[in-house]
Amino acid sequence: MIKTRFTEMLGIKHPIMLAGMNWITTPKLVASVCNAGGLGIFASAAYSPEETRKHIREIRKLTNKPFGINQILIGPGAKENIDVAIEEKVPIINYSLGKPWFIDQVHAYGGKVMGTIAIARHAVRAAQLGCDMLAVTGHEAAAHGDVATSMVLIPLVASQVKIPLIAAGGFYDGRGLAAALVLGADAISMGTRFILTQESLVHDNFKQLCLMATEQDTLYSDVFDGMPGRALKSPGAEAMMKKGFSLLQSVKSALEVKRMLNLPLWKFIGLSWSMLKSKEGKGLLIQARSATGAISHLKAINEGDEKEGFLFAGQSVGGIHDIPTCKEVVERIVDEAEKRLKAVGKNVSA
Ligand SMILES: Cc1cc2nc3c(=O)[nH]c(=O)nc-3n(C[C@H](O)[C@H](O)[C@H](O)COP(=O)(O)O)c2cc1C
Repeated sequence: MIKTRFTEMLGIKHPIMLAGMNWITTPKLVASVCNAGGLGIFASAAYSPEETRKHIREIRKLTNKPFGINQILIGPGAKENIDVAIEEKVPIINYSLGKPWFIDQVHAYGGKVMGTIAIARHAVRAAQLGCDMLAVTGHEAAAHGDVATSMVLIPLVASQVKIPLIAAGGFYDGRGLAAALVLGADAISMGTRFILTQESLVHDNFKQLCLMATEQDTLYSDVFDGMPGRALKSPGAEAMMKKGFSLLQSVKSALEVKRMLNLPLWKFIGLSWSMLKSKEGKGLLIQARSATGAISHLKAINEGDEKEGFLFAGQSVGGIHDIPTCKEVVERIVDEAEKRLKAVGKNVSA
């Protein structure tokens, strides 16, 4: 057993978190990680408030353990999804981008707020605002890590804030968990490792591509959804890099996402305007590009389309060689970390 501030604060068994991943963190995947003793996070940004509520209730049917939702705070549906999560008293609200306005409301029902940061300065700000814990994302991560690697970022943040830290980016085994704890984190969060599990719905074509990939086989660029992010090197991802950004395609995709999220036109325009003014969002352009990315991402996840789809994946993909259950992943990592920490400890003398 590894006890940390993270396991104590949440009353869970293991310092392991399933990172929120749009469309991938289904109620089944979330509940599997919770039932294995970790913390499962459901990404809600791709869903309407009604769908978010349905998925939250579905998770509760599958597990009685604490779980969380992950919501990007800029863009359509963010406020409504946070409102639903608060109404449903979701134990952990994990946000990224934007300023959390809901911390007191979450604390009022006993919930916890987890900020996601990739820059040390943002960690200090999030702690000052009242966040209970932080997911600290390194450059190795799938999707939106910034320029600092986990090796540099975790100890830096650990020396600047006092709240529990969850290290994300580059973690996939017990050696990584042991290292993260030593660097000052209280848990690890993993996306890529949990994509490669029995319970993950990602199409087998992409699971196989991931299994064949080395640590060199990811691409870091803003072509995928408008913000610098890391994806698996695949024919579709390479084609996107070559083609660059198409404004026409992005506007078409933004309208498609408006349809998927069931947004009335006035609301879509209003949200687009508020994003245009937002510091973090860089406006309509990000929204349009993010919509294009969403459609290609779905092609990979659902259809396994290697030519037109792309999948966010981290450098950790190079160290993952099997497709176990979530329970096996969690138990194997904790077991290996315990052994590593004990073995290293034995060689330390005063
Ligand atoms: C396919 C995929 C989709 C993701 N979608 C989201 C998301 O919707 N929101 C978010 O905050 N992070 C998202 N991420 C990033 C993860 O939350 C996490 O930071 C990252 O997976 C950690 O790096 P790792 O994959 O090396 O473990 C996604 C990651 C992947 C692999």
